[in-house]
Amino acid sequence: MFLGTIPAAARPILREIVDAWNPTTLAVGCSGNFTIERTMADMGLELHSCDVSLYSYAIGSALSGQPVEIELSERGRELVPWVADSFGDADSAAVAIMLLLDYAPSLGKPERIYSRHLLAALALKWPELHARALARFRAKRPVQVASYFNGDVRQFIAQLPADTPFMSFPPFYKGGYERLFRTIGELIDWPAPSYEIIDDNAVEVLLEGVCAKSERWCIGLKEEHAPIAHLLRGVVERRGSIPMYIYASAGPRRYVAPTGVAVAPLLLPVVDAVDEITADSIVEIRRVALPYFEFVRAKYLAKHIATAAPSAAALVLVDGKVAGAFGIVAERYRSNGAYLLSDFAVSRQGRLSKLVLYAALSREAQLLIEQVLNRRIRRLLTTAFSEHPVSMKYRGLFKLVSRKPQEDGRFQLNYESPTGRWTLQEGFETWLKKNR
Ligand SMILES: C[S@@+](CC[C@H](N)C(=O)[O-])C[C@H]1O[C@@H](n2cnc3c(N)ncnc32)[C@H](O)[C@@H]1O
Repeated sequence: MFLGTIPAAARPILREIVDAWNPTTLAVGCSGNFTIERTMADMGLELHSCDVSLYSYAIGSALSGQPVEIELSERGRELVPWVADSFGDADSAAVAIMLLLDYAPSLGKPERIYSRHLLAALALKWPELHARALARFRAKRPVQVASYFNGDVRQFIAQLPADTPFMSFPPFYKGGYERLFRTIGELIDWPAPSYEIIDDNAVEVLLEGVCAKSERWCIGLKEEHAPIAHLLRGVVERRGSIPMYIYASAGPRRYVAPTGVAVAPLLLPVVDAVDEITADSIVEIRRVALPYFEFVRAKYLAKHIATAAPSAAALVLVDGKVAGAFGIVAERYRSNGAYLLSDFAVSRQGRLSKLVLYAALSREAQLLIEQVLNRRIRRLLTTAFSEHPVSMKYRGLFKLVSRKPQEDGRFQLNYESPTGRWTLQEGFETWLKKNR
């Protein structure tokens, strides 16, 4: 659920940098999920953390043993009164906030039928859920921090002793954390600090403050930052995710490239030109392990289309032969959508690509996606890049929600559709009527 955690591949680079400093103390700005602190947990450092969010405040207080001032707001007392008893001490409060964050989508829309049912069940289950999570947290306490500063990173830096080694990954998404925590923020009263949202300019100000304070610093950004190009120490590129640029006052240069994708040959026959698809044909959706999906995708998806790794994939079969496939991932910023990462047919003939879309929008596909993502899915989203202002493939089935001209003259077309619009059989019959 946490947005912007430092990728695993970046962590050895950070450790190497800190190792070379040979420090006794490390100050971490924008602690977020405390990934930097957890990465350095066994290095014997005195760690000082800082952030501005309720989430980090609760965890930071628990990890530093500082008292926590958290209670339910008026809205919280209305909506989740059964949480009140969980704020007894910092550990207990931190676990309660982490659990609540998991239910943020329902807490944000409590009037919906699904949310009402979920919250009613949560009220009954809460004591047990909370006690179990608290026991896990206490048993596996991730790291001990010496102090937690609940406030703006620039104030944090200003009050550090001179030459304190400093490391920070400031926000990757401007305002993203505020959106993420808004729902639970409305349920809780806590000493929320005032601070400035960090944007690209603020990174510059942050850097000035850091460089003035210490000769040992490291900062991770999601974009290259030209003024400190000579201090680039690491680049981490990941399939389907933003890259990470690590700048530091000193250290070796490292580059982490995405690993190759596992591929396994799929030995099912594919639909070809001689196969007749009739009203008696049987259409199925079959979930398939990702290496098989990668095999079919590598073979049939146009080579110029950039791909990312899906969370799950399914084949669309007609009379036991593969007609096409689609892969999905969870929507990033909202909870009730899934992203159709790749959808393709094994042939350009016979409008099989439309059949794949009819299948992907079916009730059966919706259930499969809900099972994989473990949440209600109402919408399917996708993006196409095209030389034309509309994509003929998606037109008619999906609604065009945005069109962004690209530098290369093409358009980025974002499409959306409600999902579960028909049964697979109904979708197939409609497709057959329109396309045969
Ligand atoms: C990219 S995340 C940090 C990632 C973190 N190091 C981790 O891996 O978990 C950025 C964090 O900056 C925090 N933040 C945003 N504005 C801030 C500010 N002005 N001062 C301190 N922290 C801030 C956000 O609350 C968020 O937790």
